[in-house]
Amino acid sequence: MPSGLSRRDVLKVFGATVGGTFFQFSSWARNENGEPLILPDEILQQPLARPVTAITLGAGSRGNVYGNYAVEYPGQLDIVGVAEPIPVRNERYAQKHKIEEARRFNTWEDVFKQPKFADAVIITTPDDLHYGPCMAALKMGYDVLLEKPISPSEKECRDILALSKKTGRIVAVCHVLRYAPYFIKLRELMQSGAIGEVVSVQHFEPIEHTHMSHSYVRGNWHNSKQTTPIILAKSCHDLDIIKWMIDKPSKQIQAFGDLKWFKKENAPEGSTARCTDGCRVEAECPYSALRIYYRNRSRVRVFDMPDDKEQHAAHIMEKLKTTNYGRCVYRMENDQCDHYVCNIQFADNVTAAFSMEAFTSYEGRRTRIMGSMGDIVGDMSSFVLTDFRTGKKTEWKQESDAHGGGDWRLVADWVQAVSKQDASLLSSTIDASIESHVMCFAAEKSRMGNTVEGVRL
Ligand SMILES: NC(=O)c1ccc[n+]([C@@H]2O[C@H](COP(=O)([O-])OP(=O)(O)OC[C@H]3O[C@@H](n4cnc5c(N)ncnc54)[C@H](O)[C@@H]3O)[C@@H](O)[C@H]2O)c1
Repeated sequence: MPSGLSRRDVLKVFGATVGGTFFQFSSWARNENGEPLILPDEILQQPLARPVTAITLGAGSRGNVYGNYAVEYPGQLDIVGVAEPIPVRNERYAQKHKIEEARRFNTWEDVFKQPKFADAVIITTPDDLHYGPCMAALKMGYDVLLEKPISPSEKECRDILALSKKTGRIVAVCHVLRYAPYFIKLRELMQSGAIGEVVSVQHFEPIEHTHMSHSYVRGNWHNSKQTTPIILAKSCHDLDIIKWMIDKPSKQIQAFGDLKWFKKENAPEGSTARCTDGCRVEAECPYSALRIYYRNRSRVRVFDMPDDKEQHAAHIMEKLKTTNYGRCVYRMENDQCDHYVCNIQFADNVTAAFSMEAFTSYEGRRTRIMGSMGDIVGDMSSFVLTDFRTGKKTEWKQESDAHGGGDWRLVADWVQAVSKQDASLLSSTIDASIESHVMCFAAEKSRMGNTVEGVRL
């Protein structure tokens, strides 16, 4: 870039046009990172004769992201039941949605012991608790909003698909990126011929180093065998969005990846089992739990913070002394890869290269799309399309949250689909989502066996 010029100036110099979409943020609802959620367009929320009623199974981070939609748009969605074993979460959720006592349950199994009492269920339980509730819900005639991954087992994913077909119920998989205006626009441009014939895609998922330590070293997904390998737990969104944008069948996949850094042999001298145990390198460690949670107050939603702010410091300290979130990142029982690369061959020899990286200072996906007549370079909040024929550059911009505004747009479409009993209003039905899950299973097989795997549907 010429010195002294901003990117916008450069675009002006090159005769570029700037387009974009500007969205409003919720004044109160936040995602699990604490970022305000982007509100969906009104057009996605056609008035309904009555709101869709739903029961939330798992009132943790994601259960609240989706449930909060009902608070913002009570004419669209009404949460009428909850299953959640952690008392404070169950209590807060029930209060927020005014759920009657008889419809508050400890565990998902209890919900299905009752006669059907809602249109749908929202499944936001941990990864290994998706299959049971989803199969039970379909058997009882509920429509479903199902968090990804569909299931840690390929067979179970296929079972859910088969039962949804047999029962004719709607299962929307929470591939939220498909609802993000950024990816919708990219796909539209790729399919319109704006860059000629699409030849290849490079897609990059920078996790950000403290996010990695929080979720995949200390947190819920630190052990791939107890949950799911990171390619499913984190990057199934990415293989899915690559597949969705290219919109051709995937043929072959090959992956490499490893856990390189968060291991016992890398523990610095003077470090201790917990960051609170007098670790001698705590002050300079970027992964220090005291730095992340106690001093920066980052990602503390996971601690179910008390309402009284005066109690926050003591509450966080207690969590650091008693939960995995206070443990040294080099001394966990973690096994998730901290770098993972994957090549995919699609029909017509279109190729995609995907890379997931823990060691970045930033989050947000990066995409490069190469076509015969142009290319697109984007970072989820903006992209630039260059037309090789004219040299013209076109920039598109939007405000972004971690999922590019996809969270509530997914719920908006799902509510309409359930209300109208029309699955075609969704872009991530289980039917449309299964292939990218099969790609993830094949990638993991390739990584473990050092093979190139065919993708068989
Ligand atoms: N779509 C996305 O971008 C996205 C982002 C993060 C997580 N996820 C997925 O969403 C799911 C939930 O993740 P989360 O971050 O909300 O986790 P979380 O731990 O915050 O929430 C899960 C909740 O389920 C509850 N639970 C456990 N056993 C239960 C049972 N038997 N019955 C009912 N509830 C039970 C837990 O107590 C917890 O409150 C996971 O599968 C995760 O992989 C998806």
